[in-house]
Amino acid sequence: MTQPILEVSNLRKAYRQGGLFGGSAGPAALADVSLALRPEDGKVLSIVGESGSGKTTLARIVLRLVTADSGTVSVAGQTIVASGARTVDNRTLRHLVQPIFQNPFEAFSLQLPVEEYLFRTAINLGDAAMRSNPKPAVEDALTAVGLGYARIAGKGIRAFSGGELQRISIARALIAKPRLIVADEPVSMVDASLRMTIVNLFKELSEQLGVAFVYITHDLSTAYYLSDVMAIMRQGELVEFGRPETILQSPRNDYTKALLDAIPTLDRRWSIG
Ligand SMILES: Nc1ncnc2c1ncn2[C@@H]1O[C@H](COP(=O)(O)OP(=O)(O)OP(=O)(O)O)[C@@H](O)[C@H]1O
Ligand SMILES: [Mg+2]
Repeated sequence: MTQPILEVSNLRKAYRQGGLFGGSAGPAALADVSLALRPEDGKVLSIVGESGSGKTTLARIVLRLVTADSGTVSVAGQTIVASGARTVDNRTLRHLVQPIFQNPFEAFSLQLPVEEYLFRTAINLGDAAMRSNPKPAVEDALTAVGLGYARIAGKGIRAFSGGELQRISIARALIAKPRLIVADEPVSMVDASLRMTIVNLFKELSEQLGVAFVYITHDLSTAYYLSDVMAIMRQGELVEFGRPETILQSPRNDYTKALLDAIPTLDRRWSIG
């Protein structure tokens, strides 16, 4: 039996609202969400849904940046959240799952050269060999995202475009050799002309390195293009889950139909130019 790359079971989250002393539970940001990405399904799970549907909440629970009220999360067979509580230590977690955020400029500080982050990641998360000589791991990760070390050496974030900086943050995520990368709207702040190069990079990395991705987006067309399995969320619930072509060819849900109708340019053959 194969272990799921990602398995989420009965996840619930309601943010607390109001009151200096904890307030009360607000509406459910996640209402009993269960899903799984299995090796036989492929490597990329997309999560699509309108604003406020719970995509980021789900991502942040998987990254353990937000605490769930209840439910279980496992990555590559290891339980990282059980009954809402953390299980494995943070170091183990970082080798299982790594984040890529929407705004790559926020992932790095203005002061430090970006290579410093890559070195620190290699030193913090590497084995003894990587700790004593982190440079090869940093170079490998940069090569994997199509950048040479010389391109970044000594430079701060201002020297890069959003697309380049997002590549560097992908390199940083790769250093720990995670099983899963969770990318929350990773191209929405990247120049439109460069978005497909980043989406293609995810595809390439999933095929060549075997790392799996959760790709969160508002954009059904890139989700369709990139993902092997698609989840559509609305108001904290999963309204569709399955192969993208099945969902888009015969949406079961009126909400999915509305999302499809809201795409002005893309025709139903789903060709991506
Ligand atoms: N830190 C928070 N405190 C209180 N409520 C929150 C918090 N973060 C999210 N929420 C609420 O939880 C719900 C789900 O939000 P979430 O950010 O997960 O949605 P999303 O699908 O990522 O939306 P978007 O597409 O705009 O990024 C929303 O109703 C939101 O207002
Ligand atoms: Mg979000």
